[in-house]
Amino acid sequence: MNFNTICSMNSILRLYPRHKHLIHTLVRRHPLSNAVKRPLALGILRLKSPCDHAINNFCVSSSNSPNVQKLTKPGKDFSDQLSNGPSLRDFTAQSNEASAEVAVDGIEVPYLSHHDVNGQQRKVFFETYGCQMNVNDTEIAWAILKENGFIKADDIKQSDVILVMTCSIREGAEDKIWKRLKYLKSLKQLRKQKQPSAPPVKIGILGCMAERLKEKLISTERAVDVVCGPDAYRDLPRLLSVAGTGQSAVNVQLSLEETYADVMPVRINSTSTSAFISIMRGCDNMCTYCIVPFTRGRERSRPIDSIIEEVKILSDQGLREVTLLGQNVNSYRDTSSAVSYSIPEDKTKNSRGFKTVYKPKVGGRRFSDLLEKVSEVDPEMRIRFTSPHPKDFPDEVLYLIRDRKNICNHIHLPAQSGSNSVLKAMRRGYTLESYMELVEHILSIIPDVALSSDFIAGFCGETEEDHEATLDLMRKVKYSVAYTFPYSMRQKTGAFHRLNDDVPSEVKLRRSGELAKVYREEVLKLNLAQTGETQLILIEGDSKRSEYDLAGRNDANTKVIIPKYTLTWNHKDGQERDARPGDYIAVKITGASSQVLHGNPLFLTTLQNFKTEKEKMQLFQ
Ligand code: 5AD
Ligand code: SF4
Repeated sequence: MNFNTICSMNSILRLYPRHKHLIHTLVRRHPLSNAVKRPLALGILRLKSPCDHAINNFCVSSSNSPNVQKLTKPGKDFSDQLSNGPSLRDFTAQSNEASAEVAVDGIEVPYLSHHDVNGQQRKVFFETYGCQMNVNDTEIAWAILKENGFIKADDIKQSDVILVMTCSIREGAEDKIWKRLKYLKSLKQLRKQKQPSAPPVKIGILGCMAERLKEKLISTERAVDVVCGPDAYRDLPRLLSVAGTGQSAVNVQLSLEETYADVMPVRINSTSTSAFISIMRGCDNMCTYCIVPFTRGRERSRPIDSIIEEVKILSDQGLREVTLLGQNVNSYRDTSSAVSYSIPEDKTKNSRGFKTVYKPKVGGRRFSDLLEKVSEVDPEMRIRFTSPHPKDFPDEVLYLIRDRKNICNHIHLPAQSGSNSVLKAMRRGYTLESYMELVEHILSIIPDVALSSDFIAGFCGETEEDHEATLDLMRKVKYSVAYTFPYSMRQKTGAFHRLNDDVPSEVKLRRSGELAKVYREEVLKLNLAQTGETQLILIEGDSKRSEYDLAGRNDANTKVIIPKYTLTWNHKDGQERDARPGDYIAVKITGASSQVLHGNPLFLTTLQNFKTEKEKMQLFQ
């Protein structure tokens, strides 16, 4: 008997409370249940429609049960299907065999009808708040709905379903969404008045806020029909079908396995030259200020092969840049297969002077293995990654960044604070000294690297002296980008339980403003010092400020503005043409502000040839 996964029976019961007896019977009858005792899960139950709560489908993940039809995907464990509803492929199977029945341990259950979860051309409008991960999650949710017969609405007023991808990281992010919900409610009421016979618009809350507030979202804001957590997007078609019957539907089950590895996100912005690829989900770090481990669950990595497959598809589509995404990208570990690029006993080695709260991961394929493979897919595709944790920067990663022309020389190194007592209270696992040692080490290997960071102002117990230490750190490192946030206490976090949110809001705001000011002063110096340099930029499109200019980004991810019409090409075929999105252009930097660089275009080039072409050009000057 080969179980793919064992997951808590309680979690099945929570999902399907009305089928308590059947679940208990199935578990009791299963030959393994005595051996492994409980918690034990046998299979995936799917409900036809939660209004009749009929059990339609029972699918056992044991590979050799004689009278059981196996529906789970090979290698895909069933706990994520259980917690997230049917997978895309399962729905396809159902649509082909809509009237078939499957016998499970003598119980006859018909398949879920494809019709019940099919969107039937209903129009969905998406709104996304929060981080890049949320942009990517929206694309995953959209891929799942598209596969299930929904179509995308570009105009909110023409939509049948409005889905809001939400963020919980700070109270301000949630406040913005509550306000928006008021507007959506009025939209819903207006539609009801104007078209009383039409089916009402359905509103769904997706992502972190859904996970944090769960059913409370529906009881507080009655306009909400669907609440769907970050690991439950596969269940969206079913949740929306429940909402279609006039009931509210909630799935906020977190998973230990879900990475949506088999879902190819459908890009919302199809004109962009770059895309985001999610490589891992969740976070185990438990920094005391942070809600992420509670909204996005435990850390898990997506298998390398599925990531490489996605990069290849994006490269074939002509995309020029991918950003590998995760809450903690560089602690990536693909332990999904027996293949181990690293030596099997290889433990995650933290950067010197850095600690973790969890046990080091062993074996599998590491972030450096992934980065290496991704960079080999297309030498003309730029690779970025975010957001890393400073603890996971082994030299292999740094050497790759230095040596591969298509891995950008930019590292996000969130410091959060420059004070040791605050860092300790935040449970960041490093001191100012070890952070600075890491900065020096990175600079010694990649001298022209751009560093960016996040900072929190006014964390519990932060004094003026602590704040000064953070300002000092900013001056010393000179970040190319720094995000500064006033601290916002979040329920459930370590700080909520154990620390005192004792810095008044006006002080937090003032300190956050001071951090931003020092950052701007330093980045202006950094940017001005680049005047006269020849840099490689990837053109993204028209400048937002002027139709006569183009905007691109350099290796450091700093925006560079160049005029549109003064292009002279030094191209192999001698042809001249206007620059367009996706072009790599050598640019002479002519000026700077704290936000952008300005430059003049020199010649069209490639990622691989830029350095030699630049050297050649300098010889003739
Ligand atoms: N309050 C303020 N900022 C926060 N961040 C995370 N949690 C909080 C919080 N509770 C910031 C951190 C993190 C970034 C994504 O958001 O700086 O790196
Ligand atoms: Fe916001 Fe964090 Fe969730 Fe991203 S992961 S949406 S930043 S709470």
